[in-house]
Amino acid sequence: MTPAERIDELRRSIRHHEERYYVHDAPEIADADFDALMQELRALEAAHPDLVTPESPTQRVGGRPADGFLAVLHLQPMLSLDNAYAEEDLRAFGDRVARALTAAGETPPEIGYVAELKIDGLGIALTYDNGVLVRGATRGDGVTGEEVTGNVRTIRAIPLRLGHAVPGVVEVRGEVYFPRSAFEQMNRERADTGEALFANPRNAAAGTMRNLDPALVARRRLGAWTYQVVSSSTGEHEAAGTAATHASALETLAGWGLPVEPHWRRCRSIEEVVAFCQEWQEKRRQLEFETDGVVVKVDRLDYRSRLGATSKFPRWAIAFKYPAEQKTTRLRAIEVNVGRTGAVTPYAVLEPVLISGSTVSMATLHNADDVARKDIRAGDWVLVEKAGDVIPRVIGPVVSRRPAGAVPWEMPAACPLCGSALRREDEEVVWRCEHVSCPARLRRGLEHFASRGAMDIEGLGEALIEQLVTSGRVRDYADVYGLAADELAALTSVAVRADGREVQRTFGRKSADKLVARIDRSRGNELWRLIYGLGIRHVGSHAAQVLARAFGSIDALRGATPEALEATSEVGPVLAASVRRYFDEPRNLALIDRLREARVRLEARPEERQAAGGDLPLAGRTYVLTGTLRSMTREEAAAAIERLGGKVTSSVSRKTTAVVVGDNPGSKADQAQALGVPTLDDAALAALLAGAT
Ligand code: IVH
Repeated sequence: MTPAERIDELRRSIRHHEERYYVHDAPEIADADFDALMQELRALEAAHPDLVTPESPTQRVGGRPADGFLAVLHLQPMLSLDNAYAEEDLRAFGDRVARALTAAGETPPEIGYVAELKIDGLGIALTYDNGVLVRGATRGDGVTGEEVTGNVRTIRAIPLRLGHAVPGVVEVRGEVYFPRSAFEQMNRERADTGEALFANPRNAAAGTMRNLDPALVARRRLGAWTYQVVSSSTGEHEAAGTAATHASALETLAGWGLPVEPHWRRCRSIEEVVAFCQEWQEKRRQLEFETDGVVVKVDRLDYRSRLGATSKFPRWAIAFKYPAEQKTTRLRAIEVNVGRTGAVTPYAVLEPVLISGSTVSMATLHNADDVARKDIRAGDWVLVEKAGDVIPRVIGPVVSRRPAGAVPWEMPAACPLCGSALRREDEEVVWRCEHVSCPARLRRGLEHFASRGAMDIEGLGEALIEQLVTSGRVRDYADVYGLAADELAALTSVAVRADGREVQRTFGRKSADKLVARIDRSRGNELWRLIYGLGIRHVGSHAAQVLARAFGSIDALRGATPEALEATSEVGPVLAASVRRYFDEPRNLALIDRLREARVRLEARPEERQAAGGDLPLAGRTYVLTGTLRSMTREEAAAAIERLGGKVTSSVSRKTTAVVVGDNPGSKADQAQALGVPTLDDAALAALLAGAT
């Protein structure tokens, strides 16, 4: 078999398994075997780059983030649907259809319908040219949408190439949705980091499809269902091949390998449609996607053409909407939750109430501003809704039933977990607990503290931290320095082997000794590693280096006024305020003292130190690096220049002190010459660095 043949075979096989997994939710092979197929394809394509085509499954996430989206005009307008809110509305729809067909000269013995679940997502149009996906567009306002091909390509339910040769250009329409589980997980993470929550999966899907970075879209794991095919030249009818009915069009779509929601049903009468709607009212909650109703469509395509459309809606379809599930109940209390990053969000404790088939006793209140704006008070009767049928939320108070004495809510002054003062930055919505050892923050904080970029304690990872924090053995960062090899060696954990059996593992003497040695070594780290490791908001590793150099010790930093901080080069008001807030929290000061007792270095090492602002040898000078240096990497060179007070920037201007030119330099060398900026070679740079130190 030639590589080209094997590549073709692998692509077909991968698409087959993608379809089994993402469309039918019925995989035939293990994930690892699927990964192996992908890996083989990647390797073959790497060896034969000329055989890479855009519709290869390896090319789903391609390209860089887009600068914006292009507007696209739909081949035919994407109409919206008229709504029915009650069974009576459905029957009235049936009567209208029958009357219109009779008036058109038909006396239909029976008007068949197809009932489909109404997917609560985002309408999309997919264009296939000779079977290859060439464009994806959002519905937009129905006439023009946005071209989101890069994002659509990341959705693995959507084939990049149709399973059968489909000649010409066809447009397939459907819905992109956010699976429930992925939605809930994403909102939990957003609550943790203090980001605004998405109200429901539809908003989340829409927000995601409008993201400019396909890599992010790929991570969100969107799903898709298709339900319609149109073609530019022939219209809906002929595009579906021999289809004379909607039901056969759906079968055709599925046959092409497109995702078609499998629960649709052919109904012989409106009464059967009504029964379908009743049947799914509760059952729909078990689906992995949101449905807010049922779409009812006349089955025969010739009837459809005869019925036509108004300017907004087709006359041959209607959307039956399930009633939004809302209940009133008593709001017992407003409490706050502290996320892993310290973000504090209010939530409602409710008198339990049955909504959409489940008992609700807690609901989100979004954020403090929202509670204030709606003036929601403890003791109120409140209207509660299961937003998008997922997370219950409080819509607002029933003011007329407000009990006497109910007082407006205020964010508590102190963190419920550790008692530290809660604060928020100017103009920020999110309140935070600033105490880095707050039990809510400790796990993630410790992971950061020990990470390679910070204190660099290899071996102190997520699982061990979890164990140490849960057992209460580690209550703050300083406790790490009290860990003894004996106690670590005796720690046991349960691991699951490949065959599914659980086995007890002990940490072991050797690992324990190694870890204790690494912990010990970290005591002498550069100051910036500690400053960075403390997890002060807005202080990344570069800012930590700036602060370490400028202040020389934790004590000097903790004593610095906001003015002194802001007077430091590269320190702006946000960073200065954040550092100040950190050291204003007494619990953080207590941690510093405990680190001191644990003999952790709190001063800069000599080579880090800056005697007084501005007198480092390269202070005030700016360098640009280009090409490959022989004696060190560009990153090392930049770090060395910065240690000596110089700045490294990426673009050459008249103000640049010098451009360091290595082998195979870029255009920056020419720019230096054009602007009359001096250049340095490897040797000159080495001399500069040596002379300066
Ligand atoms: S058919 C002209 N079928 O609901 C008919 N639409 O409220 C076009 N939707 O714009 C739509 N599930 O984005 C159809 N099974 C389904 C649907 C569905 C969800 C969306 C679609 C439409 C909106 C109208």
